Amino acid sequence: MADFRFESDRLVLRDWRTDDWAEQWRVTNTPAVMRWLGGSLDEDGRAKQIARIENCNIANGFCFWVVERKADAGHLSGEMLGMCGLKRADAPASSVTGTMEVGWRLREDAWGHGYAKEAAIAALDLAFNRFGADEVVALTVDGNAPSWGLMKRLGMQRRIDLDYTDSRYGEDLNPTIVYSTTAEQWGQCAND
Ligand SMILES: CC(C)(COP(=O)(O)OP(=O)(O)OC[C@H]1O[C@@H](n2cnc3c(N)ncnc32)[C@H](O)[C@@H]1OP(=O)(O)O)[C@@H](O)C(=O)NCCC(=O)NCCS
Repeated sequence: MADFRFESDRLVLRDWRTDDWAEQWRVTNTPAVMRWLGGSLDEDGRAKQIARIENCNIANGFCFWVVERKADAGHLSGEMLGMCGLKRADAPASSVTGTMEVGWRLREDAWGHGYAKEAAIAALDLAFNRFGADEVVALTVDGNAPSWGLMKRLGMQRRIDLDYTDSRYGEDLNPTIVYSTTAEQWGQCAND
């Protein structure tokens, strides 16, 4: 299977290379970035994250891809900004387990430029137009205003009826709150 690569105006979403991980952890495995994701990952956590992404890609042909800024003038390749993409929601016995999920995690100095929204639009377009999704959910917690703010800016619908408690986390990371968009809603949104 050919490596996945997708370009938007300012970004590249692409498959992982083995030597990407050190840079990915350097730029995103920080207290600020991981504030609402259970804190910085230790070695075991990083290994499990790599395995989850690789297994997702093998099983589905999509995953949370590398997000790079397109090549800056004078440089051969762009800066790695983080990751964004698609997975199957995998919280045990949740209301959305198995549904396609869009997610994002960018380095702190890349926040506030619209890069996450641009990457998320690319991922949602791919979900509906290439990977056959009927519905895509996005998951976060109430405290993570930058993340649910992005869900709102994307035109996703708040689904209080689907909120759930994630038994893997404590009170500070619960409940999981759910936003969703369907192929029909996304199509209308794209035409607005
Ligand atoms: C969640 C996260 C990806 C949001 O990133 P973000 O940069 O705030 O989101 P956007 O890409 O939509 O950018 C919006 C901001 O860029 C600004 N912006 C600048 N240029 C822009 C452009 N060309 N287009 C759109 N927005 C632009 C907007 O005004 C807005 O700024 P504001 O927040 O000061 O109002 C980021 O906070 C993050 O990586 N957090 C850590 C990881 C995490 O928690 N992930 C989610 C787990 S559920």
